[in-house]
Amino acid sequence: MTIKKSLSDTFALRNGYKIPCIGFGTWQASNGEIAQQAVKNALEIGYRHIDTASGYENEESVGLAIRESELRREEVFITTKLWNPDRGYETTLQACKKSLDLLGVEYLDLYLIHWPANEKVYDDPVKVNKDTWRAFEKLHKDGLVRSLGLSNFLEPHIAQILDDAEILPVVDQIEFHPGYPQFNAVECCRRNSIQVEAWSPLGCGRVLSDERLQNLARKYGKTTAQLCVRWALQHDVIPLPKSVHKERIASNAQVFDFEISPEDVKMIDDLPTFGYSTYSPYTLPI
Ligand code: A2P
Repeated sequence: MTIKKSLSDTFALRNGYKIPCIGFGTWQASNGEIAQQAVKNALEIGYRHIDTASGYENEESVGLAIRESELRREEVFITTKLWNPDRGYETTLQACKKSLDLLGVEYLDLYLIHWPANEKVYDDPVKVNKDTWRAFEKLHKDGLVRSLGLSNFLEPHIAQILDDAEILPVVDQIEFHPGYPQFNAVECCRRNSIQVEAWSPLGCGRVLSDERLQNLARKYGKTTAQLCVRWALQHDVIPLPKSVHKERIASNAQVFDFEISPEDVKMIDDLPTFGYSTYSPYTLPI
């Protein structure tokens, strides 16, 4: 575990860029006033890493909130993701430019393939993933994207990219929370120097009512959400908690004043599966 002390502390990516240790998640924050206000609040509170996606359909409001803040572009780490129907070489190039326009920025800090192509949707998903990656490499070479990464890629999908990548992925964003930590994928990333990010670190709110976690959180004098965020950090995984409520946005980041003991980390690690979204990269129908 690397000790982190504040929201602006960073992890070093293998390509030399730094990424703030907690990101602000925006999935299900509707475009318009809700997403804009949530991101504005997050930036005021001190978050310096904002995670959106073309598929969330809120890039416009996220970008507006960032541009309306007093912060300089280089002070905010911005991630967006390629939405599934845009996979493929030319379509990826176009989709990235559209995301840049909607966000109103000149470059992305991180661009992720949102989900790997699978056999349910494509005759040759491996080729689709490789073609998409080629486009990612071109976007990087053209200066539009600083770091390239993956999302929801498990070991076999990661292998497809590593097989012949010229520019290596530096991040994989996966579902990761108590009850669904996907440690096999985390280990695979670690072996390949890929930084893991956690989407739905609170299990989309589902794990917060779990009594075992609630009891443990009480022991540390923290909320269950703070316990989940801290647990991800102690695994050197970047949590991306989402909320549209200012008090929760602030509270979810107050995780630098306690440490979960190794025994309690293990207890959380060993919880049987619960709170799983049921979204699988092998069966997603898009
Ligand atoms: P809301 O946006 O209404 O605050 P995840 O980050 O795992 O995807 O979880 C996001 C979900 O958890 C959202 O429904 C969010 O609701 C809720 N949530 C976020 N922070 C908290 C919190 N501190 N306490 C309770 N629910 C929370």
